Amino acid sequence: MPENKLPAELISFINEWKNKQGNLIMVLHKVQEHYGFIPREIAFEVADLLEVPVAKIYGVITFYHLFKLTKPGRNQIAVCMGTACYLKGGEDLILELERQIGVGLNTVTPDGEFSAEAVRCIGCCGLAPVMTVNGEVFGNVKIAQLKKILDQVRAK
Ligand code: FES
Repeated sequence: MPENKLPAELISFINEWKNKQGNLIMVLHKVQEHYGFIPREIAFEVADLLEVPVAKIYGVITFYHLFKLTKPGRNQIAVCMGTACYLKGGEDLILELERQIGVGLNTVTPDGEFSAEAVRCIGCCGLAPVMTVNGEVFGNVKIAQLKKILDQVRAK
């Protein structure tokens, strides 16, 4: 699918939200849901349709850390660095994860398979340390389990 043209489904979503409050956030969420990030040319198309300056769109994207400006890996990993997870070894988990996928946080592996980020508390502190892979939660993660988790995800 070409990434420089909004699909009809997104255009009608934008039209539906055009005059509603908070529409920019809703539309950007929808765009990110569709592409996995906010492609630059799509940000320009959204600006046109909503009749807002592109700078406003980028202001929102960079203010809220929810939005990505680059394409993430096929598998998106998030390691919680909230207090409970940090105290239970979240940082070591990140270091080992970086070692196993071969790139640092917020970087896509050369084969496009993985990208990882550190996130704030995701609300399951009782399971610390916690990570998610494509939204699926893994709790009480031990460093020794990481390879198995990555292998399983890679095979899907
Ligand atoms: S601190 Fe990690 S889930 Fe709350």
